[in-house]
Amino acid sequence: MDLVKIKAQAKKEISVINNSRDLERWRVKFLGRKSALSLFFANLKNLSLIERREQGAKANKLREFLEELYRDNKERIAQQEKEIESWDISRPGTKAPTSHLHPLTLTLREITQVFSRLGFAIVEGPEIESEYYNFDALRIPPSHPARDMWDTLWLKSVSKKGRLLLRTHTSPVQIRYMEKHQPPFRIIVPGRCFRHEATDVSHDIQFHQVEGLMVDEEVSLANFKDIIETAIRGLFSQKVKIRFRPSYFPFVSPGVEVDIKIRNKKSGAQEWMEIMGAGMVHPDLFETVGYNKNLWQGFAFGVGVERIAMIKYNIPDIRLFFSSDIRFLKQF
Ligand code: PHE
Repeated sequence: MDLVKIKAQAKKEISVINNSRDLERWRVKFLGRKSALSLFFANLKNLSLIERREQGAKANKLREFLEELYRDNKERIAQQEKEIESWDISRPGTKAPTSHLHPLTLTLREITQVFSRLGFAIVEGPEIESEYYNFDALRIPPSHPARDMWDTLWLKSVSKKGRLLLRTHTSPVQIRYMEKHQPPFRIIVPGRCFRHEATDVSHDIQFHQVEGLMVDEEVSLANFKDIIETAIRGLFSQKVKIRFRPSYFPFVSPGVEVDIKIRNKKSGAQEWMEIMGAGMVHPDLFETVGYNKNLWQGFAFGVGVERIAMIKYNIPDIRLFFSSDIRFLKQF
C-alpha cells in the first residue's frame, strides 16, 4: 500500500470511531508493528540511498500525522465516554405536550354515538342555507311571526331557492333529506347554526344542534319519548326524569319542548332544564317533499349541543366554548 492510500484509509476509519476499544484497534492497524506503514519502513532498505531518504522523509511525516490524529481522537473519545458515564438513564423523560378534543366535539360525538346505537344514520347539511329550506318549506312564510324566533344573519347573494342566509337551525336538513330519500328511515343531523342576537350566558351567535328525524308507517310521540329517554340515559349515564311541555313550531304538530330534571350543582336543588324542541312532523312537510301524507308519520327533534355540554360539565357560560381560553379548555 502506498502512503497516500494509507493516509486516506486511516482518516476514513477513524472518523467513525466512537469508543476507545475501536480506537485501540485502529492504532494497532495503522501504527502497530505489523501495520502497512511499518512494512513500508522495513522495505526502505531495498531502495537506493537517494530514494530511501526521500521515501523515508515522507513516511516519517505520515507517522507524525497519524500519531497526532490518534492523540486528537483519543481525547475526543475520552471526553465522550466521560459524558456517557454521567448520564442518568433512570431519570424520567420529558413529556411532550399533547392536545385533546374540544368539549363540544366530545359532546357531539357522544350524542351521535348514542343515536347510532339506536339505529339513526348520521347526515349533514350546508351551513349556508336558502330562505326556502330554512323557512318556507318548514311552513314559516315571510309574514309569519315565527320568523322572529330565528333572528337571521342574511347573506347578500340570492339562490334559486331564495335569499341565502346562515342557517338558524338544523331543521332545513329534514326537507333536504326527505327530498332525496324514501321512508322508512331514522337520521340525526349534527351541525353548526347561527343567530343574529345579543349574547349572554345562554345565547351565542353560533351554536350547535343535533336534529333528529324518524319517519315510518306508525310512529308516535310515545316512540319518541322512549327513544329520547334511552338517549338521555346514555348521555348522562343515569336515569334522568324528562317532561314534555306543549310548544309551537310551525313544522311539527303537535309540538313540544323537552325538559330534563337535573340537580343544580351549586344549590343542590332539582330543576327542570329545557334541552330540545320536538314534535310530530307536520303532514304539510310530507306533501312538500312528495310523500303520501296518509301513509307516513314521523317525529322530529332539535337538541342544543351546548346546552347538553353545559349540563354535563357544569359550564356556566355558553360563550366559553368559543373563547379559546386555554384555562377553560384544559379542564376537559
Ligand atoms: N328547529 C327548532 C329550533 O331551532 C327545534 C325543533 C326541531 C323543533 C325539530 C321541533 C322539531 O328551535
